[in-house]
Amino acid sequence: MIENFRLFFLQRVGLLSGFVLLLALNALPPFALAQNNNRLRLFRERQISSGYFNEVDVSSPFYLPLVGEPKAGRRYINLPPRSGTFRRWRTFLADSHYGIKILKLQKCQDCHPRQSRDYHTVRARITCFQCHGDEPIAGINHFYSSMNSTRRHSYVCAKCHEGANNSYASYVVHAPNPAAAATRGSFPMLFFAFWIMVAVAAGTFAVFLPHTLIWGYRDLMTSHMQGDGRRIKRFSLAQRLFHFLLMLSFLTQAATGLSRMYIETQWGRSLASIFGGYQWALTIHKWVGIFMLILFGVHLLYIFNKIEWRRLPRSLKSPDSLLPQWSDVRLALQHVGWFFGRSTPPQFDRWGYWEKFDYWAVFWGMAILGGTGLILAYSLYSTRFIPGWTLNVAFWIHRLEALLAIGHVFIIHFFIAHIRRHSFPMDRAMFEGTVSLDAARQEKPAWIARLEQNGELEAVLAPKPNRKLRFLYYLIGFAAVGVGLFLLIGGLVQSRHITW
Ligand code: HEC
Ligand code: HEC
Ligand code: HEC
Repeated sequence: MIENFRLFFLQRVGLLSGFVLLLALNALPPFALAQNNNRLRLFRERQISSGYFNEVDVSSPFYLPLVGEPKAGRRYINLPPRSGTFRRWRTFLADSHYGIKILKLQKCQDCHPRQSRDYHTVRARITCFQCHGDEPIAGINHFYSSMNSTRRHSYVCAKCHEGANNSYASYVVHAPNPAAAATRGSFPMLFFAFWIMVAVAAGTFAVFLPHTLIWGYRDLMTSHMQGDGRRIKRFSLAQRLFHFLLMLSFLTQAATGLSRMYIETQWGRSLASIFGGYQWALTIHKWVGIFMLILFGVHLLYIFNKIEWRRLPRSLKSPDSLLPQWSDVRLALQHVGWFFGRSTPPQFDRWGYWEKFDYWAVFWGMAILGGTGLILAYSLYSTRFIPGWTLNVAFWIHRLEALLAIGHVFIIHFFIAHIRRHSFPMDRAMFEGTVSLDAARQEKPAWIARLEQNGELEAVLAPKPNRKLRFLYYLIGFAAVGVGLFLLIGGLVQSRHITW
């Protein structure tokens, strides 16, 4: 019993003295920490971090939150100005509307009209609050603002664009008007990309619109031989198939693209509803775009297969090749001379310069539209390699190049293939694969002469066409023209009602 008691007593004393010792140790100066008491350590302890972005998501110990209007002489805004001007101080406030009277019925749009006309607000119908948060709305550059560029990608963009990175967040949501002179200073890449594309488009139309109109007029005024109805082969089945698929996918891209661009109008909404709405129009646009790129790849393989590699480079210069040559320039000038009665009709061979232009324009269009289209479609992926603001640039290049392509195909290409005297009311060559021998003799004399000289003319004479098929060709051709003109005229008429 006593033994037990002594043991019990010793245990208690031992525990108690251990406890006292611990307390005493705590009261001693923290010598163990002293060795870390240097400046770096101090800084680390006082800084505030979310813990996610250790290197950037920290405030310096010298940071003083800006709460009110800075007094004159206090240098809060002593930050490097971006474009030579001082940045506004409100952008550093926790409540950017501090001291501003906001009337009850006022909307964000009333005071910030420029910020209300961008892709997110107008097209995707995202409200301001979804990005800027609720009142009090912090200034963009307030240190703890979710819009602060150190955390914008994760706190704002990633809410909807899952996986958005810092580069993606440098996309300029409220993009400036690319045409405005001020953009040259604030966003030069957008400004120059815009004006270069506008110059390319304006140049193309400035040359081809009058060219085609005068040509049409001149064509009408010249006498034509009456033919015997014989036709010769011009396009192979593979070429016609390529053209047909290109035509279908081009019309789809034009319709889906325009339906989204015009989604603010009833016209655009009806167009989009054909494809199942705004979202589906984009899905279809993306898949058909990929289909076009595959088609383009197959076409490249096809040409590589066609080229006579043994006879290079002579085979590329053959009149059957679509490669532009110096003689095309000469013939084009002579053609224009003929428009004005200043020279004899040019002796075109198999491909006229306008046909070569149409062919290579597709290459250019594929590169520009396909390239920017891929960047935009896979924006989260592409911004890993390129900065997010290039999406703004890519978007405008895509848009302007598409308008150029639509204008060129639906005005100039349609005119040449349907309204000229030889081809009125429709040039069946691309569907049927054949052209009238007499028309070809008049328009492409060098081609026919070459065929006759080589004794090949008999071989390319086409058998009698199938009437039912011809009806189908007319149907397809007119349907395509109908769709094209509907898009062209609708787009032109409605263009005043959309936010550019
Ligand atoms: C009564 C007019 C008015 C209304 C309504 C208004 N704002 Fe403002 N807002 C201002 C003014 C003025 C500033 C300061 C602009 C400056 O410094 O150039 C400002 C600043 C801002 C800023 C900070 C800008 C920066 O550079 O950091 C944001 C963000 C903002 N407003 C968003 C909104 C949102 C979202 C709404 C709608 C809920 C809204 N505002 C409604 C007048 C208004
Ligand atoms: C998709 C997200 C998003 C939406 C929606 C949005 N904003 Fe912004 N806003 C931003 C971003 C990002 C910035 C920062 C721009 C910068 O750093 O240049 C910004 C900047 C601003 C600015 C500062 C001035 C400027 O242009 O840089 C104002 C003012 C503003 N927004 C108001 C609005 C209003 C008003 C709306 C609603 C009509 C709105 N925002 C909708 C993302 C958005
Ligand atoms: C509330 C949801 C929301 C937030 C937040 C948001 N976005 Fe968007 N964003 C959208 C929607 C919806 C679209 C339109 C998609 C469409 O048209 O199919 C879009 C489209 C885009 C596009 C067009 C290209 C593409 O990928 O289709 C870009 C770029 C973009 N957002 C960038 C941003 C950036 C940068 C931020 C952060 C500042 C941001 N977004 C924040 C919803 C949001």
